[in-house]
Amino acid sequence: MTDVVRIVDVVDECYDTKTFVFEWGAEVRPGQFVMVWVPGVDEIPMSVSGIDGNRKSITVKAIGEATRAIHQLKAGDHLRIRGPFGNGFDLGCGEMLIIGGGVGTAAIMPAVKATGADTIIAARSDRDVIMESVASGSAGSLWIATDDGSRGFHGNAVQLMRERIAEKHYDCVLACGPEVMLWFTYKACEELGVDCQLSLERYMKCGAGVCGCCVMDDSRVCRDGPVFTRDQLSKLTEFGKSKRDACGRVVSFR
Ligand SMILES: Cc1cc2nc3c(=O)[nH]c(=O)nc-3n(C[C@H](O)[C@H](O)[C@H](O)COP(=O)(O)OP(=O)(O)OC[C@H]3O[C@@H](n4cnc5c(N)ncnc54)[C@H](O)[C@@H]3O)c2cc1C
Ligand code: FES
Repeated sequence: MTDVVRIVDVVDECYDTKTFVFEWGAEVRPGQFVMVWVPGVDEIPMSVSGIDGNRKSITVKAIGEATRAIHQLKAGDHLRIRGPFGNGFDLGCGEMLIIGGGVGTAAIMPAVKATGADTIIAARSDRDVIMESVASGSAGSLWIATDDGSRGFHGNAVQLMRERIAEKHYDCVLACGPEVMLWFTYKACEELGVDCQLSLERYMKCGAGVCGCCVMDDSRVCRDGPVFTRDQLSKLTEFGKSKRDACGRVVSFR
């Protein structure tokens, strides 16, 4: 069933990313996502980036036709959404370090707000950093990393993660971001003996485990994920290597 929800606020996160706050009474867990229907264009998956009672939000990076159409919407306009879908993060895994890379920061923000855990936000440069003000109000410690060094730690999320883990004990790393970042997060966690829960992206149509287009080995990313544990990731043969496009063709990450 598609719900028509009213947008109550639009926040500019950076030059290409906006947060849309809307009224929606559904129960949502941190790490879950919705399917957003843009009539005449497409229906696309979006993480829920804010959970505040009946107020929820999505944070959208404009990269193509559907996301650019969503960017045209203003407060008072409506979104058509289905969900929530997916398993979400397990927040009972001890001392957590939470990492968001790029627009993947949207997916981790409800977990940051719910736990107050230490957090890393990583971006290409200062102008790509999003949701810092939300994180700074909730995270125990907050660190920013930029690839070009224009802000905070000069380097990527995984390099900074290794520094933080050398300083303090963490039981589990929660992360969402580009798959190359998640792959190296996974490898580092394996090496350091730290558990992890990583939120993956695959092409999705139904979002509800029916169409099969998001399958990785014997898992449907939309229903069994998008969050996978270190043990589950070790059995996903495509993880870090390839994904499928809208036509089912294999696209390599390397
Ligand atoms: C579980 C999940 C959560 C996501 N959360 C966010 C989020 O919080 N914020 C955000 O900005 N983006 C998020 N995305 C990515 C977002 O769905 C794509 O950026 C969006 O679909 C692009 O659509 P478009 O028409 O604008 O661009 P297009 O030009 O159609 O596509 C550009 C690229 O986006 C990806 N994409 C397109 N359609 C889909 C689809 N149906 N399923 C998965 N990927 C697709 C493909 O990699 C494609 O190459 C998420 C994706 C998944 C799977
Ligand atoms: S998107 Fe249809 S089964 Fe996952």
